[in-house]
Amino acid sequence: MSSTTSTSYTASFPKTRMRRNRQDLWSRRMVAEHRLDTADLIWPVFALDGENQREAVQSMPGVERMSIDLLLPAIHEARDLGIPAVALFPVTPVAFKSDDGIEATNPENLVCRAVRTIKEQIPDIGIVCDVALDPYTSHGHDGLLNEQGDILNDETLHVLTKQSLVQAEAGCDVIAPSDMMDGRVGVIRNALEESGLVNVKIMSYAAKYASAYYGPFRDAVGSAGTLKSKGKQSYQMDPANGDEALREVALDLAEGADMVMVKPGMPYLDIVRRIKDGFGVPTFAYQVSGEYAMIHAAGRNGWLDGDKAMTEALLAFKRAGADGVLTYAAVDIAKQLKEGV
Ligand code: PBG
Repeated sequence: MSSTTSTSYTASFPKTRMRRNRQDLWSRRMVAEHRLDTADLIWPVFALDGENQREAVQSMPGVERMSIDLLLPAIHEARDLGIPAVALFPVTPVAFKSDDGIEATNPENLVCRAVRTIKEQIPDIGIVCDVALDPYTSHGHDGLLNEQGDILNDETLHVLTKQSLVQAEAGCDVIAPSDMMDGRVGVIRNALEESGLVNVKIMSYAAKYASAYYGPFRDAVGSAGTLKSKGKQSYQMDPANGDEALREVALDLAEGADMVMVKPGMPYLDIVRRIKDGFGVPTFAYQVSGEYAMIHAAGRNGWLDGDKAMTEALLAFKRAGADGVLTYAAVDIAKQLKEGV
């Protein structure tokens, strides 16, 4: 530090005391630059086949997979708390998985049935649907593979387009491609336009990293055990890269994305900030399963205050420039916000 800087600090004291505004709750609230609001929360939920089915996710304490009939009251509650949207993920029965993941394009598949039922019963909550083949492929990859196990990018686009159309036709409001194939946003946008589904939004997982933090999610949807040999590094981004995320965002916007997402969340707050500053578009962050699991595990062990750590993490997304966060804690946090905790 230069001597001028330290002199000017000294000179300003005691005129400037940074601690003055921090003295009381009212003044801290008054000068707060960012605030977490229920409208910032998107709640990811896991749908099970069958009826009256409820299963805990071992690696995500407090998260349950539910059949559609049980999801309805849970989503009702979320809506009543003011949560604007849910993100639906199907737990596909093994019998419906195949090498080509064709169940993804079945208009009667679990996720399409869930969308139709939710839209019918709770029309005023937004529904976000993931587009990627991993819940449907026996190998657990997001795209089609050739015999050597390499991803067939362009062939995969056809399936993703059909998957998007059946989901949009079922009533999904926001198509969220999480597959990271090149060119997918453009072909999906064209197909939606050609089908007259012009108001269906695309939230692209623009900067999705090949991350170890997805572990608990893969347990939840049952894609971990099936993911053989090769990881997802040939399509998901290298955690070492930042500039590349901006190129991904630029492409997805040019191809017709309405909003973009960064995933995982907390280890990538610099990316959120760069995207928000660089593009000024609706920017979301996904606080992924591993982030949720870490905070809960430490909280349950009494190593930190889990509720406070969660709120702090979510506020950090806002400070970094995110317009909203996908979080498994959405309902818990919405309840706390309502109680004014
Ligand atoms: C599937 C998908 C994944 C997640 C969301 N969509 C897993 C993956 O890419 O392997 C992860 C979400 C989470 O960890 O919470 N394409």
